[in-house]
Amino acid sequence: MRLLVTGGAGFIGSNYVRRRLAEHPGDSVRVLDKLTYAGRTENLEGLPPDRLEFTQGDIADRDASRAAVSDCDAVVNFAAESHVDRSIDSPGEFITTDVFGTFVLLEASRDAGIRHLQVSTDEVYGDFEQGTATETSPLEPSSPYSASKAGGDLLVSAFARTYGADALIIRASNNYGPRQHPEKLIPLCVLNALAGDPLPVYGDGMQVRNWLYVEDCCAAIDLVLEHGEPASVYNVGGPDELPNIEVVKRILELTGRDESLISYTRDRPGHDRRYSLSAAKLNELGWRAEVDFAEGIERTIAWYRENEDWWGPIRSGEYAAYYERHYGQSISSAGSSGASSDSRTSGPLTRPGPAAGDSG
Ligand code: NAD
Ligand code: DAU
Repeated sequence: MRLLVTGGAGFIGSNYVRRRLAEHPGDSVRVLDKLTYAGRTENLEGLPPDRLEFTQGDIADRDASRAAVSDCDAVVNFAAESHVDRSIDSPGEFITTDVFGTFVLLEASRDAGIRHLQVSTDEVYGDFEQGTATETSPLEPSSPYSASKAGGDLLVSAFARTYGADALIIRASNNYGPRQHPEKLIPLCVLNALAGDPLPVYGDGMQVRNWLYVEDCCAAIDLVLEHGEPASVYNVGGPDELPNIEVVKRILELTGRDESLISYTRDRPGHDRRYSLSAAKLNELGWRAEVDFAEGIERTIAWYRENEDWWGPIRSGEYAAYYERHYGQSISSAGSSGASSDSRTSGPLTRPGPAAGDSG
């Protein structure tokens, strides 16, 4: 099979490309990636050049999408703006890529007559304070990010129904693991803990996320690509539902830091309190998560400890300016050697400790 992987230079996409090439020795992969701040060709280093082709391009560009699908047997669309906080600051790019870009790529894959697997998110179901979302739960997105992803999903379903396109959707919960951009909670906290910087916890830290190790997510994507029913949706829920504060405390424990580094900050506007996803339909296809949080977080911390070459340039580049803008304080660019205690002072978004029942 020759596979087009859009967004393949990002976190999950690059982990997926690695898996695909390792597990399917006869396959080749073409990556189409715009290389936004989140995409890095370094993520694809070390892969066999005769089986991997990289093109820099935008899925929202008709010519780029059409050229990319040609000669391919299927497309897996990871390309997206993916960070909720950035969508709140600046939603425009999310509409352009996650909605319009999905539409352009869908037209290209429909016209080429190939399977389009859309990688989507549990966030489209919105806040699930009780119970568990199934594939038929209503879409009630809360943020510009999740609304854009829901828009993309609705187009996929419409293309399957209206044109008979072979298009389907996978909705995954919170992924974590190697090569995740440090803007996201787990890598952010791991790197801040290693550096001795404060760990910013939004609101009361009691928001619950459903954690899924990235390799398990990639295995689910492969299974659905090969065996998923056309026009279907498959949820991929991780094995552990945890409040953010527990995740943060676990990271502090495993990095040998104490809880004085926790910095409760102003909450994210519209913050969903809980996601919960049933993977029952995917279990019927034969998928089970193999890595629980206890093991996955240790693997993840070990990877970041060993790969300062990967995250060092990110922490001192565009991300440093973003961090300062968003959190109102700077991060130290030092690695695991630790930062000066000056970097722990509170900025405008921080306050000294949690207030009972405060969600922001
Ligand atoms: P990421 O931000 O790490 O990577 C996104 C990639 O897409 C980057 O390489 C970026 O350069 C590329 N990209 C962005 N706009 C593009 C465009 N217009 N054309 C081509 N390439 C473009 O994201 P991620 O965390 O790896 O997420 C991948 C996908 O999985 C996204 O669609 C996201 O919505 C979805 N998802 C992520 C999670 C998660 O926990 N990370 C969970 C569920 C679903
Ligand atoms: O649920 C799947 C989604 O998971 C994906 O669709 C998104 O692409 C991905 O970014 C992720 O979204 P979240 O908003 O859940 O992930 P994030 O890592 O940004 O935040 C996880 C939780 O931690 C969330 O409740 C907000 C909180 N948080 C996050 C940051 C960055 C903090 O408390 N402090 C922080 O500094």
